[in-house]
Amino acid sequence: MTKKLNRTAAAALLGSLTLFACTERDQGPLGNDLAANDWLLSAENETERFERLQKQMRGFDQPMWEVGERYGSLHAALQRENYDLAIYHWDKIATTIENGIAKRPGRSDSARALFLDSAFPEVRAGLEQRKPDAAWQAFDIARSACMSCHQAEKVEYMNNQALFELPMPADQRESGE
Ligand code: HEC
Repeated sequence: MTKKLNRTAAAALLGSLTLFACTERDQGPLGNDLAANDWLLSAENETERFERLQKQMRGFDQPMWEVGERYGSLHAALQRENYDLAIYHWDKIATTIENGIAKRPGRSDSARALFLDSAFPEVRAGLEQRKPDAAWQAFDIARSACMSCHQAEKVEYMNNQALFELPMPADQRESGE
């Protein structure tokens, strides 16, 4: 009887210890309970946590995706003669490219020479004039800068897409200014 009781007590103790161990393992660095979706908090250590973050933050493709999106929005803003919106998107494009080369420093020489230190301020000045002629001329400079960096970075196939054939007002083209 006593033996049996002891065994039951031992089993109960073992059970609670196991439970305790599980709880310990399922706690994050901040002592909080981990849920199944805690993909960062559940990493074994800081290195693994940062590796997971780096992977999710991607490389140059995701910033470029945003840049492409905003370039289309810049074009749409110019069609509406909404120069504030055009400048807004142009500035965000530069920020996105800056953030992109922070992740992929190998792209930074081309990005700086062909875009950030050259076309970017030139295009911005053109947009700031808030006049159709100057703005469309600036858009044309922007397009060339994008395409020349794709060439320099050996992704020429990026230039063969509808994004770089967005129409400019026919009168701007004819006047050649
Ligand atoms: C550093 C030079 C550089 C500049 C400047 C640049 N690009 Fe890119 N772009 C790239 C590279 C490199 C890729 C391919 C990324 C990869 O393979 O991870 C790319 C890819 C893209 C893509 C495909 C993204 C996707 O995955 O869907 C688009 C769209 C794009 N660029 C648009 C633009 C536009 C618009 C501009 C100008 C406003 C621009 N790029 C300026 C280098 C550049």
